[in-house]
Amino acid sequence: MGISLLFLIFFISIHCHANNDSNKYTSLFCFGNSYTDTGNYVILATPTVSEIWINKLPYGMTFFHHPTGRCSDGRLVVDFIAQKLGLPLVSPYLAHNGSFLHGANFAVAGATTIDTAYFLKNNLTTQQLLNSSLNFQLGWFDELKPLLCKSRKECKAYFSRSLFMFGEFGTNDYNFILQGGMSLHQVLAYVPEVIKTISLAIEHVIRHGAVSIVVSGQLPTGCVPLFLTLYASPHKHDYDEETGCLKSFNYLALHHNTLLVELLKQLRSKYPQVKIAYADFYNPVLNLVQSPERYGFSKTPLRVCCGEGGSYNWNITKICGMPGVKACKKPSASVHWDGVHLTESAHRYIAASWLNGPYADPPILA
Ligand SMILES: *[C@@H]1O[C@H](CO)[C@@H](O)[C@H](O)[C@H]1NC(C)=O
Ligand SMILES: *[C@@H]1O[C@H](CO)[C@@H](O)[C@H](O)[C@H]1NC(C)=O
Ligand SMILES: *[C@@H]1O[C@H](CO)[C@@H](O)[C@H](O)[C@H]1NC(C)=O
Ligand SMILES: *[C@@H]1O[C@H](CO)[C@@H](O)[C@H](O)[C@H]1NC(C)=O
Ligand SMILES: *[C@@H]1O[C@H](CO)[C@@H](O)[C@H](O)[C@H]1NC(C)=O
Repeated sequence: MGISLLFLIFFISIHCHANNDSNKYTSLFCFGNSYTDTGNYVILATPTVSEIWINKLPYGMTFFHHPTGRCSDGRLVVDFIAQKLGLPLVSPYLAHNGSFLHGANFAVAGATTIDTAYFLKNNLTTQQLLNSSLNFQLGWFDELKPLLCKSRKECKAYFSRSLFMFGEFGTNDYNFILQGGMSLHQVLAYVPEVIKTISLAIEHVIRHGAVSIVVSGQLPTGCVPLFLTLYASPHKHDYDEETGCLKSFNYLALHHNTLLVELLKQLRSKYPQVKIAYADFYNPVLNLVQSPERYGFSKTPLRVCCGEGGSYNWNITKICGMPGVKACKKPSASVHWDGVHLTESAHRYIAASWLNGPYADPPILA
């Protein structure tokens, strides 16, 4: 009797512990681009870029009520994950404010996976690139680390309770290469280079003690209003009949994701002590585009909330944040916020599908 009561108490306490989301991780570190950036781009670009549209209202209108440097009307997927884990929203590292003991966000809008210097050296883009590619983000992590923990033992203990998130990565690489004049077919040849760079970054944080890692794939870029507009086709067969998305761009994203899943499989067998999750960004967004009303969205999911003109309410000459460009009345009913990025309500759905499944393998809270 005494023994079984003890067991029961033991079981209840284990059970409580497992269910306490705020206990699982004590810090969150993020790498990525505008889908993850919580303010780094604005800090990095301020000295050189004269007008930063993402730093103007209506960006931030829904949750923060002012622009924060996030490319949305409110919270991003990482914000919902931080909140669910009971952590503060992850501060942009370049703000250099606070201790970052609960984590830091190294993601920068516009960041590429492949080294910035590689783009310049190979004349792959005509865009002006900031020093924000994944290797720079890892350099910032290395710079911060001595302020988080000192000895090997201390770092091991500290990072054993940290969650590392990578992604989304790839969209900027492929977009810059395309805009540099290559065909979508030629872009396919760069996918292995992008995947290899992600792989090196994951191994970098593992060497520093990371044991819980989430890596996100690409979203269905063929459903992104910017691509739908810039690469509009006169041929009906270029579009998916059901969704109206561009088939070739979705094919590129699927190819990227296939190689990424394969990579993660290899890394899991190389580092069996590390929990490496694949976060599927493609299927939850596709769900919203295929059956928007089922998830509480309006029935025109490819129509941008904040924008003006064109078939998707998006025109590059009048983008969100520019004077006079307005947001729709109810952003929570839109999937797409500004033509590239998603709304807070889309992020909430994606975050839930990664935390509890079915779109992260394994789910973050599993
Ligand atoms: C969960 O963990 C937090 C932080 O350690 C603690 O404050 C809270 O009381 C815990 N909740 C439960 C239900 O155990
Ligand atoms: C640091 O600055 C960022 C952006 O400037 C802000 O979002 C964040 O709340 C700040 N963090 C602290 C701990 O003050
Ligand atoms: C780089 O590309 C631009 C335009 O695409 C071209 O004019 C220029 O000559 C190229 N430079 C080199 C070094 O290849
Ligand atoms: C980027 O970094 C390189 C060296 O890594 C430096 O030469 C260059 O000036 C930097 N560019 C910017 C825009 O800061
Ligand atoms: C975008 O707006 C400009 C200026 O109003 C116009 O000339 C152009 O045709 C528009 N493009 C699309 C794709 O609607």
